[in-house]
Amino acid sequence: MTTQNLIEKFESYFGTGSEPQLFFAPGRVNLIGEHIDYNGGNVLPCAIKLGITAVIRKNDSSTILMKSLYTKGMVKVDLNEEINPINGDWGNYPKGVIAFLLQNGIELSGCSILFYSTLPAGSGLSSSASLEVLTAYSLLKINNQKINPIEIALLCQKVENEYIGVSCGIMDQFSVAMGKKDCAILLNCQSLKYEYVPLQLNEYSLVIMNSNKKRELASSKYNERKLECDTVLNDLQNHYSIANLCEAQLYQLDFHIIDETLKRRARHVISENNRVNSAIDALQNNDIKQFGELLTASHLSLKNDYEVSGFELDTIVEESLKINGCIGARMTGAGFGGCAIALVATDVVDIFKEKVSATYYAKTNILPAFYESSIGAGVHELHSYQILKQVQDDISKPYSS
Ligand code: GLA
Repeated sequence: MTTQNLIEKFESYFGTGSEPQLFFAPGRVNLIGEHIDYNGGNVLPCAIKLGITAVIRKNDSSTILMKSLYTKGMVKVDLNEEINPINGDWGNYPKGVIAFLLQNGIELSGCSILFYSTLPAGSGLSSSASLEVLTAYSLLKINNQKINPIEIALLCQKVENEYIGVSCGIMDQFSVAMGKKDCAILLNCQSLKYEYVPLQLNEYSLVIMNSNKKRELASSKYNERKLECDTVLNDLQNHYSIANLCEAQLYQLDFHIIDETLKRRARHVISENNRVNSAIDALQNNDIKQFGELLTASHLSLKNDYEVSGFELDTIVEESLKINGCIGARMTGAGFGGCAIALVATDVVDIFKEKVSATYYAKTNILPAFYESSIGAGVHELHSYQILKQVQDDISKPYSS
């Protein structure tokens, strides 16, 4: 898909007229610090070059019309009427953003939007955060409103929590809004203080692997984990002055938490937050092997204590770790299916993919997918000089399920 094709598609749905604007929002992978954001600790995500492009133009009406290249029909929002979600519809993400922008007193004109994605939906690479942040950014831009990426991230998190009904933390929306080329973001989710950490992996590459296991019950299980963590925090706060679960110590669990399941959930959170800090040390000391070991330890904790991985994600991680040259692997994102990452010696990446594909397929009967995606920037407008390059680099291979 070239820019020209994309604009032609846009015109085929919405007619010709003035030149539309193009915007891009990335997906993200979280390197380490999983299920930590809603517990107030440190996470280390980065924006990737796979993402969603919006082609957008004002339409002189009070209606926002939205078309995704992957679904039939169009989503229509009348700016003068109540904007209600429809169960299970992709349009709920942009609709929630429009509703919350209006609630915040932002004036929006009618427009037409075409969405084009290279990001596999529902695979743990934050396609929903990408769509939310992209909608907010594009609408603010075409309406000449002030842009504050952190405020956009917070608004989109609120959409997810209150309009979609998933009690997620801030990590995904923050990474999509604030990503920086070749850098991971060390973000403290309590204070929102952050710093960019250049990701130099020396002779290793980051491989993104899609287990292609669709996530099931993800949002209900996700909300259940959050409740479990809140329960432990409430109990501990009767004894200690802590603001969030990541401030607790492992020994405190032995003293005060009787329920074994709750103890394991909290053990994951506390140990994972410690692993993020160790991962930063490892990167600063240029110790990529240690970084890899921390990734694997993170997976085991998510598998055994937090119980959010599942057969397919465990299998793809285990099969990856069997290959010479793979020094660490873990699921990434919420879990319950979706993607994993592996750190693999660059010169064996092709062999790695071949072997993992074969053994994973033999055990699960599912073919995995691998994405070559380097670390890119957060949400931005595609200006004409960038468009050609961006299209060649990033949006030439659409995701098809
Ligand atoms: C999902 C949520 C994030 C975060 C991760 C797990 O991606 O949207 O807020 O909690 O799961 O780390």
